Amino acid sequence: MDALLPTTKHRRGRRTARQQAALDAPSPYLLASSEAGLAPVFDSGDPVILDVGFGTGEAVVAYAAADPTTRILAVDMHTPGIGDLLASIGELGLDNVFVIDGDVREALPSIPSGALTGARTFFPDPWPKKRHHRRRLIQREFADALADRVVEGGNWHIATDWPDYAEHVEHEIGSSPHWRGGRIERPADRPVTRYERRGIAAGRAAIDLLYSRMAS
Ligand SMILES: C[S@@+](CC[C@H](N)C(=O)[O-])C[C@H]1O[C@@H](n2cnc3c(N)ncnc32)[C@H](O)[C@@H]1O
Repeated sequence: MDALLPTTKHRRGRRTARQQAALDAPSPYLLASSEAGLAPVFDSGDPVILDVGFGTGEAVVAYAAADPTTRILAVDMHTPGIGDLLASIGELGLDNVFVIDGDVREALPSIPSGALTGARTFFPDPWPKKRHHRRRLIQREFADALADRVVEGGNWHIATDWPDYAEHVEHEIGSSPHWRGGRIERPADRPVTRYERRGIAAGRAAIDLLYSRMAS
C-alpha cells in the first residue's frame, strides 16, 4: 500500500455552529476505520456504496434519501464537511449513511474484499498543475486497491469538471485490468453539488465516467 500513502493532510478548518454541534455529539454513524469499526455497515446484507471524498455530503444525502435500502459508506478528511454530513444525518433521520473521518487510502484495507456494491468519486480535487498530478486521488494503485473491495459487476461512478482530469482517469483506470468502462451521459439522478455548480459557472461542464468491476 506504500504507493497509496496520503499526500493530502487532514484538513481541519473553521467550523460553523451546526458543524461543531454535530462533531461534538456522539453518533452511531461515525465509525472507526478498522475492520471491527466498519462491521455495522455490512451486517444487514444491504448493498453498500463507497462515496470517496464527499465534501459536505450533498450527493450522499440525496442518494441516501432516495434509496433507503442502499447503505452509503462516506469517507472524507475535511472536518467541517464531516460535521455537515453528521448534522444532515441527524436532521433527516437517515439510518443508511455511515461516515469515516480520514484518508480513504488508509480506510480501504479495513473494508472486506468484495464487500462493496460500488463506489462514487464526484469532483475529486483536480490538482491542475502538472507537477501536482501525483497528488491526484485517482491513480492506478488506488483503482487496483478499490477493485479488491468492489464485487464483480459493481460500478465506480466518477464525475469531474476538469477535462484533463477525465483524461487522467481514462489513463489510470484504463490501465487497470480490473475495470472496464469510460465516459457516459450525465445520469439524470446524479445530484448537482456545489462543485458542479461552480464548474458550470466557470464554463466547465461535468464529465461522467462509469467503470465496471471485471472478473479477476
Ligand atoms: C472538490 S471536493 C468534492 C466533494 C464532493 N464529492 C462534491 O461533489 O461535492 C473533494 C473532496 O475530496 C476529499 N478528499 C481528497 N482526498 C481525499 C482522500 N485521500 N481521502 C478522503 N477524502 C479525500 C476532500 O477533502 C474534499 O472534501
